[in-house]
Amino acid sequence: MRATTINEYGSNDVVQVVEIERPEPGEGEVLVKVHAAGVNPIDWKIRSGVGQRLGMTLPIHLGGELVGTVETLGAEVDGFAPGEAVFGMVHTGAFAEYAVVKAANLVPKPSNLGFTEAAALPLAGSTAWQALFDEAGLTAGQRLLITGSSGGVGSLAVQFAKARGAHVTAVASARNEAFVHSLGVDEFVDYTSQPFEQAARDMDVVFDTVGGDTFQRAFATLRPGGFMVTVVAFPDGEAERHGVRVKRSFTLPSARNLTAIKGLVEAGKVMPHVDTVLPLTEVKQALALSEAGRTRGKIVLNIAT
Ligand SMILES: NC(=O)c1ccc[n+]([C@@H]2O[C@H](COP(=O)([O-])OP(=O)(O)OC[C@H]3O[C@@H](n4cnc5c(N)ncnc54)[C@H](OP(=O)(O)O)[C@@H]3O)[C@@H](O)[C@H]2O)c1
Repeated sequence: MRATTINEYGSNDVVQVVEIERPEPGEGEVLVKVHAAGVNPIDWKIRSGVGQRLGMTLPIHLGGELVGTVETLGAEVDGFAPGEAVFGMVHTGAFAEYAVVKAANLVPKPSNLGFTEAAALPLAGSTAWQALFDEAGLTAGQRLLITGSSGGVGSLAVQFAKARGAHVTAVASARNEAFVHSLGVDEFVDYTSQPFEQAARDMDVVFDTVGGDTFQRAFATLRPGGFMVTVVAFPDGEAERHGVRVKRSFTLPSARNLTAIKGLVEAGKVMPHVDTVLPLTEVKQALALSEAGRTRGKIVLNIAT
């Protein structure tokens, strides 16, 4: 089968689509025939060397989320049938024709989405859900500010928070204003025309998906005792200085969270936005686009083509 592999860390030059042996599912695992796979910043970050810092060993098969159909079941797996459409996160190996997934992390695909749209959900959706609800405990009526609200994570976070009944302020650029309004935001702040922290105040929760200077400046938008959750920055004493709480969230696969997301999608309350669809042979182009940092919603690789 074809898979996307790196044998060393570096630029896109080290990325290869190669023939490897089809993996076999072990105990508690499912072999999935991959139809589509979402592209995430972590994919090019792993390629650039983050994989080493994460303790991964070369060669690495890239790709962290997928949607497809159940091919075969490993031992001790109940609840899935061959041919069933499923989606989920994997540690590695989603940019391939087949991937092994832990059954505990696999969920039936939302029935009202095609494979391409569903591929936009597992990693970005799990990230937004875990940060907003598991870490920050966001509740109805709370005031939430999201940085990077036009991206893969941010555009789903906006929709999850609106479905929960929060008041959402979106920080994005003017070119994405119509897009983030279409997601249902209450307030929009163009970060390219003004310092966003001057236009937003008294937030109960900030969800930061940008990091760096944006993460630092976003503290000014929180009310005293507010909660900052970031998926990019590494907090370093800011909570004490600002009189707030802060948490770095690392996304873990969660069938419970994916099932909740599937429910919102099937209820018509959440719709992922796919910016660009490319075939597996164009994986370098997909990684380059993600690395450019301007994606609106998600980039998806269509593996079946
Ligand atoms: N900790 C974890 O477990 C975890 C999990 C998932 C993701 N992440 C990280 O979270 C980050 C976001 O992921 P993603 O998939 O959402 O990325 P993405 O889709 O590539 O984000 C691109 C979006 O960010 C916007 N953007 C860029 N700079 C901005 C700024 N200064 N202010 C506001 N918006 C800005 C861009 O809009 P413009 O073009 O208009 O600027 C674009 O729409 C990445 O760094 C990723 O590695 C971490």
